[in-house]
Amino acid sequence: MSMLSKHLRQVPEDTVARIYHDRCNRFLKTGIHEGSGEFDLAISWSKSLAMNHSVIDHQHRNLFNHARDFVDAITQSKSYSRVDAIMEFLDEYIHVHFETEERLMAEKHYPFLQMQIDQHRRFSRHFNGLKDQIEKKFITNKVFILFRVQLLIIDWLINHTSKLDTHFGKFLRRQDGGYGDSNRLMKSKAK
Ligand SMILES: [Fe+2]
Ligand SMILES: [Fe+2]
Repeated sequence: MSMLSKHLRQVPEDTVARIYHDRCNRFLKTGIHEGSGEFDLAISWSKSLAMNHSVIDHQHRNLFNHARDFVDAITQSKSYSRVDAIMEFLDEYIHVHFETEERLMAEKHYPFLQMQIDQHRRFSRHFNGLKDQIEKKFITNKVFILFRVQLLIIDWLINHTSKLDTHFGKFLRRQDGGYGDSNRLMKSKAK
């Protein structure tokens, strides 16, 4: 790490080294491995991800659709133009979705609620940090920004949804004995 930092002080425009440096730093701080960050990772909704809860499933599907569109646009045209749209979507998504999920987990006395809250907060901090850096033009290299956004969505949020959230789905199914109870609960809350 110290050699990488030294290298970056000497060659600050080395984007690949900076991405690797930032990723190592985050790993040392959070213990979360952010994965390979490949653009061609398959992002598609499947039934195995369903929690049988209509509100949360709808939100998760929406996330996957936006992530898929974003990655397709980048892969096909290397276009930077979708960054604003996906950041705007995520801004609202993390606010509404995390709140919905945490409220339901609390109501159901889900034992891993705190782990979910920690990961949600961590994601929000990363997202807000990146948003701030883009808005204040602290980072302007478009390739670097695209890579950071993609890491955030795929390696973190999609992974979180596919792994941690599906665990809650299993817990819900066991508790509700199948389908329906949680949906009714959330719908009556939404009114
Ligand atoms: Fe989720
Ligand atoms: Fe979650």
